[in-house]
Amino acid sequence: MPKVTYFHEITFEDIPEGQTLLDVSIHHRIPHLHQCGGQARCTTCRIQILDGLSNVSPPSPLEKKVASERGWDEFTRLACQTHVHGDVVVRRLLDNSQDIIVLDLEELHGGSAGEGKELDLAVLFSDIRDFTTHSEQNLPYDIVHMLNRYFTAAAEPVLNNNGFIDKYIGDGILAAFGTRDESPETACRNAVRAALGMLEAARRLAPTLEQQFHVPLHIGIGIHFGTVILGRIGHPGKRQITVIGDTVNTASRIESMTKEFATPILLSDSVVSQQGYGVSRIDYDKLLRVLIGTLEEFLAEEFTPEVQHAWRTVYGMIAETMIEAAEN
Ligand code: FES
Repeated sequence: MPKVTYFHEITFEDIPEGQTLLDVSIHHRIPHLHQCGGQARCTTCRIQILDGLSNVSPPSPLEKKVASERGWDEFTRLACQTHVHGDVVVRRLLDNSQDIIVLDLEELHGGSAGEGKELDLAVLFSDIRDFTTHSEQNLPYDIVHMLNRYFTAAAEPVLNNNGFIDKYIGDGILAAFGTRDESPETACRNAVRAALGMLEAARRLAPTLEQQFHVPLHIGIGIHFGTVILGRIGHPGKRQITVIGDTVNTASRIESMTKEFATPILLSDSVVSQQGYGVSRIDYDKLLRVLIGTLEEFLAEEFTPEVQHAWRTVYGMIAETMIEAAEN
């Protein structure tokens, strides 16, 4: 019976003849992305055949079409469409959603991305409040450690909501949503959900950073929706796919305004006005918790029970209006 080896990982023997490589992964609990459920519609299950190409089924017409659109060579295959008939050595090509997005940008927008391509995206800009001031009391290695802990926690919700992490700017994160041709509503909803997840991640990490490094961790997030230019920018020896344009600058300015408004998240009109952008009641509850925590910190003793009650009332009214708009 055929043998399937995952390069540098593990070998499975006695694989049933004709099983797909995706089924082999699933059966043996090997993490293997397959977003469309094996329908040849997403390419996230892609693998590279390192040895034994003649021992697997030839590409189906559907797979051939995908491969030619993306300029794949004969060794790059869809695991969900590739049946095993003999020994084979493979390597999974995508580990996480960031990989998928970068490859999509390269393969689908490849030529045009080099020149710059206009897209309508939701752009999220986040920043740690007063991080530079607070981190001055710490050693450079500690700052690197802190930032990596924070980026690991805060970037996860971005990736989990189909976001593309464009870059880290000091202690800030610039991310874009909608690069996979999602609708504006979906792009905005994903950006808002990512922002809520980032706040939650920061809230969970804050006590550790406070205790170990005496650095308070509070973040501000601005989100704007609009047209950006997506392009591969930089010296030919080191180019980077990035988004630029007024939408990005506006998202950054909105983030700055979160300090003035003493709020952790600020959305522009263009995000809010996406009809039915689908943020659920649970999301609003989560935001209320974060908002109250932030106001407590900023207003200190001025955040009296009466002020808190007023904030909760106003927030409740706004949230109800938006939920109603989203549901109708
Ligand atoms: S799982 Fe989507 S193409 Fe294979």
